[in-house]
Amino acid sequence: MKLDRFRLERYFAEHEFTAPYLLCASDCESMALGDLLALEPDARERMSLLRLGYTESLGNPELRQTIARQYKNISADQVLVHAGAEEAIFNLMNILLEPGDHIIVHAPYYQSLGEVARGIGAEVTDWPGDPQHAWALDIGDVERALTNRTKAVVINVPHNPTGYLPVSAVIHELSELSERHGFIVFSDEVYRGLEQDPADRLPAFADVNERAVSLGVMSKAYGLAGLRIGWIASRNAKLFNELAAFKDYTTICNSAPSEFLAALALRHADTIVGRNLQIISDNLDRLDRFFASHAERFAWHRPRAGSIAFPALMGESVETFCEDLVRKQGVLLLPGNLYGPGFNSFRIGFGRKNLPEALERFDAYLRSKA
Ligand SMILES: Cc1ncc(COP(=O)(O)O)c(C=O)c1O
Repeated sequence: MKLDRFRLERYFAEHEFTAPYLLCASDCESMALGDLLALEPDARERMSLLRLGYTESLGNPELRQTIARQYKNISADQVLVHAGAEEAIFNLMNILLEPGDHIIVHAPYYQSLGEVARGIGAEVTDWPGDPQHAWALDIGDVERALTNRTKAVVINVPHNPTGYLPVSAVIHELSELSERHGFIVFSDEVYRGLEQDPADRLPAFADVNERAVSLGVMSKAYGLAGLRIGWIASRNAKLFNELAAFKDYTTICNSAPSEFLAALALRHADTIVGRNLQIISDNLDRLDRFFASHAERFAWHRPRAGSIAFPALMGESVETFCEDLVRKQGVLLLPGNLYGPGFNSFRIGFGRKNLPEALERFDAYLRSKA
C-alpha cells in the first residue's frame, strides 16, 4: 500500500512542540495523570497493582462496558478498542475495501478518512459540505455519486475542520439510503459529546443502523489523546469479527495502563467533559468578539459543536498568512490547503485554556499589519 504524506500530521510534527501557542489543536484541554487518578480515592493504589502483560485483544472488559454505556443499542461485546481512532480507521478501511471499490467521504476530511482507501486502490469521491450554507451536507449528493462499486460512505459529525453539526434527519436519511443501496456507513464521531446544547447531540450511527460503524476516542472531548485509546462500536457481527482479526497485524492489544485510565475517565465523563465544555463556551464568546472586530479579514461562523472551526481568510493567501503568524508571534493556525487545494480558510481550535493569550498575540499580529 502506498500512502501520501499525511499533510496535517506532518505540519504538526514540525510545529506542535515548538510553537508556543497552538491555536489549532483539535483536542480539549488535557489533564495531569495525578489529577485523573485523584478522581477516585483508591485509583492510585489499583493502578500500581496493574499487571503489565498482554491484555485482551478486543479491549479490557470493564472498559468495553463503560464505553457501551454511551450508546443505546450497543453492548460491551459490540465494542472493539483500538490504539486511538487512527488505528481503527486504518483497520476498518482495510477490511472494507478492495482495489477498484468506491467510497464516498464527507469533505473536507481528516486525511486518513480518504487516504487509506486511496492507498488500497479504491476510488474516493468527495461529499462536500457547502461553505455558503455553514458547510451543510446534501444527501442528494451521495445519491448521485453512488455506483454499484460503492462499499461505504464516511460521515464525520461534529465535523473536522468546520464544526458542522447536522440535524438528526440527515443521519436517518443516510441510514435509509444505506439500507436501500447496501453500502456501510462509517461514522467518525470523535467530537461527539462536545455539543454546546446537549439537545443537539446526534444519535450514534451504530445505534440507528445495524450495519453501520461508529468511531469514538478519548482524545477530543476528554483531552486524553496521550492514552491512545479509541474504539469502534457496531452491531455488524461479520465486520466486527474481521476487524478483530485484522488487529492481530497492527497492535494485537492495547496498553494496560491506558485502558485502566480510560475507564476511570469515562466513569467521570460529566466532570471532565463538563469542564471542557465550559472552556469551549468561554472561548467561543471570545472568538465571537475577536472576529467581530476583524470582520473585514475573516468570515466567521460560530459552530454548535466540537472544538474547532474553519473561518475563511479574505484577500491574502492562507498559507503565507499562517507561516508569517507563527514566525512573528508563535501562534499556530492550520492552513486550509492542508485539507486540499482551494480552501483559503484556517482551522482554529478553542478547547484549550490558553486561547486568551494566543488570541492576544493573534490580535497584535493583525494590528501590526494594518
Ligand atoms: C475526525 C478525526 N478522526 C480521527 C482522528 C484521529 O484521532 P486520534 O489521534 O485520537 O487517533 C482525528 C484526530 O484529529 C480526527 O480529527
